[in-house]
Amino acid sequence: MKGAAALLVALSTSVVNGHPVVDNRYPYTGPAVPVGDWVDPTVNGNGKGFPRLVEPPAVKPASTNPKNNVNVISLSYVPNGIHIHYQTPFGLGEAPSVKWGKYPNELHHIVYGFTHTYDRTPSCAEVKAVTQCSQFFHEVQLNHLKPGTTYYYQIPPANGTTASDVLSFTTAQAAGDKSQFNVAVLNDMGYTNAGGTYKQLVKAVSEGTAFAWHGGDMSYADDWYSGILPCADDWPLCYNGTGTTLPGGGPIPDDYKTPLPAGEIPNQGSPRGGDMSVLYESNWDLWQQWLGNITTKIPYMVLPGNHEAACAEFDGAGNVLSAYLDEGILNGTLPKTNLTYYSCPPSQRNFTGYQHRFHMPGHETGGVSNFWYSFDYGLAHFVSIDGETDFAKSPESPFQTKVKGDEKLPTASETYITNSGPFGEVDGSFNETKSYAQFKWLKKDLAKVDRKKTPWVFVMSHRPMYSSAYSSYQKHVREAFESVMLEYGVDAYFSG
Ligand SMILES: [Fe+2]
Repeated sequence: MKGAAALLVALSTSVVNGHPVVDNRYPYTGPAVPVGDWVDPTVNGNGKGFPRLVEPPAVKPASTNPKNNVNVISLSYVPNGIHIHYQTPFGLGEAPSVKWGKYPNELHHIVYGFTHTYDRTPSCAEVKAVTQCSQFFHEVQLNHLKPGTTYYYQIPPANGTTASDVLSFTTAQAAGDKSQFNVAVLNDMGYTNAGGTYKQLVKAVSEGTAFAWHGGDMSYADDWYSGILPCADDWPLCYNGTGTTLPGGGPIPDDYKTPLPAGEIPNQGSPRGGDMSVLYESNWDLWQQWLGNITTKIPYMVLPGNHEAACAEFDGAGNVLSAYLDEGILNGTLPKTNLTYYSCPPSQRNFTGYQHRFHMPGHETGGVSNFWYSFDYGLAHFVSIDGETDFAKSPESPFQTKVKGDEKLPTASETYITNSGPFGEVDGSFNETKSYAQFKWLKKDLAKVDRKKTPWVFVMSHRPMYSSAYSSYQKHVREAFESVMLEYGVDAYFSG
């Protein structure tokens, strides 16, 4: 099967040095920038009115009209250190850096990192609100730090940004340290219904919680289109932007009629719905800025969920999304749904935003970027795994598994919008989990845990293995991971 071997080599390049590769072999034929509201399908709004919901950036700019700004700062653990990830709309013109030290007024060390970016849709050049957009992602790592120790840091100004405040973080307790600690564990957040979760997180930080562990479905960026799809009965908040009445027939709220200030992005999907923005990328930007009160203070560890995969998951009545994303038809219908891998703009496929907007210690712990990795904290070993891709019959399967007959590649219509990965190598059949790098890594990672130092082993992925509500993927997650977790005595498995 020479052809298959060549295909596998091509597949394993989905992540090259942590930088994702997006398949473009069939053209994208949708709108240049999908905007999830027919009432106002423009990037920066045109005065039709949206509730205002502006989140402050991580660093307050020195002037009212900054040319560039640090909008997001997010901490994560790396072995014996801390990773500082920060985001700006435009480049820095130099290597990103962080000044740090043991005391707030003695930041005598400086460490440099690297920057990555992607062709997000819309680009930050198209979004007028400089303090609400991120397109350049900066990675700076502080290594060889002492465990359980507080350090101080500051991001210096560069290319129009303002210096951050002097901030602090505390490194992980050493493996084997018997001190107590608390962790905030959460899944499925988004924005509209997550006010309570946010308050609990802020409270947890103020009470000394060590870190947050978020098992997927962070921003619900893909909810940009909920102002387009007809409302479903089980949606708590909804407005069908194609109509002029609200569900239940209530009047249009006054704030919907109030024009936005010039240049402000329409960052609420509709009077009663959307997640928070009618733009996929702005949902990410604003959710990350909302979480700034947490992510600048404690490490925020994440793993992938289904809402990170692509710009949409399913079509609505009349196949309104297929009409829009495939044909660029506003407020139209099609006889058949045809959401394919190529329906989303390239930057909204294959977990691309997710891969850029965080930095987890995959590379540092033998895993893969933000998909699978592990870390120790005191008496516990924490393992994040990817329940979306990279095992047999994974829910967001790579589209190469759709190859039929003599095909080398599936046709566009044989693919699906959430097809993703694999992000690690597949050495053998796609139908056997033991072929996958993720499985090999998990087995190795669990085997080398020193239970004298870290007697507790916790694993999380987004997907439940068991549930009273049946879904077929549960069986596949069980088949992939249950026996290896039992073999190595994993104490608890968390999921969303
Ligand atoms: Fe989910």
